[in-house]
Amino acid sequence: MRKIIATGKGGAGKTTIVATLSRLLAMQGFRVLVIDTDPSMNLAMSLGVPFSMIRTLAEDKQEIKEQLYDEEYDTDEYDENETGHQHDWNIDIDAFLQKYEVTAKDDVKVVVMGTISQGGGGCICSYISLVKRLIDYLALWSDQYDIVIVDSQAGSEILGRGLAVNYDHNLVITESFPKSMEVARHVLKLANDLNIRNQLVVVNKVRDTKELDIVAGEICLNGEGIYPVSYDERVIEADRMGSLIIDMSPDSVVLADIKDIMNVVTEGFVKV
Ligand SMILES: Nc1ncnc2c1ncn2[C@@H]1O[C@H](COP(=O)(O)OP(=O)(O)OP(=O)(O)O)[C@@H](O)[C@H]1O
Ligand SMILES: [Mg+2]
Repeated sequence: MRKIIATGKGGAGKTTIVATLSRLLAMQGFRVLVIDTDPSMNLAMSLGVPFSMIRTLAEDKQEIKEQLYDEEYDTDEYDENETGHQHDWNIDIDAFLQKYEVTAKDDVKVVVMGTISQGGGGCICSYISLVKRLIDYLALWSDQYDIVIVDSQAGSEILGRGLAVNYDHNLVITESFPKSMEVARHVLKLANDLNIRNQLVVVNKVRDTKELDIVAGEICLNGEGIYPVSYDERVIEADRMGSLIIDMSPDSVVLADIKDIMNVVTEGFVKV
């Protein structure tokens, strides 16, 4: 199972790109799960899933924690590569997914982490750790998905929480202005610390190819690949309608751009 995370500054285009990429992947026959770890919970809406259909992981935190509990996993000595490791995870994964997973167009599956339910309710760390366990479980013990994509909250905090250790791809979504690139630079550093194998710098809302030179000079200092996604007002129009450009204007160059990203993240992947 290939694991991908999208990171970057607020408003850079993470949710739009994750939602569109997931649809494109599913249309190619990949079994795709997208997980929204942003407490703002916009991803389902972008995929046309009404919020009333969703039960978030956060709502059942304690129950899920118990199902995904594993004494050995919870120690510092846990080694996911060790063979013969027996888990205590006490979970009926089919029943679990039935409860939390919603199906969007093209059979994209969506799970929403959820958010804090009241003022002063603490931080989202424990919810993120539920997501980490779920993805670890799916990667180790289940054959349900080919690709999992995590949409994240703005900023680099998600990488500070270790959710994405050993992921395959980090899509660092940035615009070409300084504040956006500053976040991207920090995200790249943290992702390197987590051993994420491939870092793709995705420059979104590109109006002029000069922007790519700016980003390359400012942040692609270790030869990270740079992938432009063009600016198209129809993306915003689609967003306003609770839709995606893939449905409203399939001729948009934005889709061709995101297909280029799809080709990179699926390179060498053999579908079962
Ligand atoms: N290529 C594009 N061309 C034009 N507008 C775009 C493009 N990509 C995204 N947008 C617009 O930018 C805005 C922010 O996009 P989006 O919500 O995907 O960003 P985000 O990074 O997920 O934001 P947040 O950090 O708040 O979750 C939206 O209005 C969206 O329609
Ligand atoms: Mg978002």
